[in-house]
Amino acid sequence: MKENINLSNLPKHIAVIMDGNGRWAKKQGAMRIFGHHHGIKSVKDTVEGCVELGVKYLTLYTFSTENWNRPKLEVEGIMQLLIKTIGEEVPDLNKNNVRLKAIGDIESLPKSARKKLLDSIELTKTNTGLTLTLALSYSGKWEIVEVTKKIAQQVKSGALAIENITEEVFSSFLATGEAPDVDLMIRTGGDHRISNYLLWQLAYAELYFMDDLYWPEFRRQHLFEAIYEYQQRERRFGKTSEQLPSVKV
Ligand code: FPP
Repeated sequence: MKENINLSNLPKHIAVIMDGNGRWAKKQGAMRIFGHHHGIKSVKDTVEGCVELGVKYLTLYTFSTENWNRPKLEVEGIMQLLIKTIGEEVPDLNKNNVRLKAIGDIESLPKSARKKLLDSIELTKTNTGLTLTLALSYSGKWEIVEVTKKIAQQVKSGALAIENITEEVFSSFLATGEAPDVDLMIRTGGDHRISNYLLWQLAYAELYFMDDLYWPEFRRQHLFEAIYEYQQRERRFGKTSEQLPSVKV
């Protein structure tokens, strides 16, 4: 599959909803946290797949604002897993020239998780290859409200005039920073929804839903299949087919 991918037409920004860990674990007769542990292998393989191809931005929905409502034991298990994995992975991230970032209400994470995260971000900040962003305690509506507050502050202080609020200005305040809007969004686990993820950035994303695959089963070959499928789609951005440049893969 990798050979069929057109490297000059890669999605610049891929976002993933890593769904189905709990159901995968249940299928094995195990606790839900077992599924999250196995999801780590999928995360690593996906990151390596992106590095292998030269994808610039990968954003993973790791923990949503709504996930705080899960049973306490599961939330604690995910936080422990996060602390362990983020710490252990720094050498590999550096080896692969991957810059780690995080978006979301980081202040709401347990102190130990926040510290490990910020340390790892610091240790990888000069890397220039893939930007790997973990969405943690994140939701799209939360982010839009945060942007609105920042813009309101600027208007209030006189730094920004209302008539100068444009889509570009709004985008510049998003947590994803300089990352372009999402080109391809992949969701495993069979559900066909956005689940409050990157609501602004997904405006023109191609959506790729995997009906028969839980996140712990996801490997780079699935990533390559998704990218190949993405490259077969016609992205019109509201135009007609005839208006598009005729360069086709
Ligand atoms: C969704 O599956 C998965 C999560 C809410 C957690 C995902 C977290 C990881 C894979 C750990 C990631 C760690 C790093 C360092 C990136 P689900 O629990 O909603 O599954 P279900 O839909 O079958 O219940």
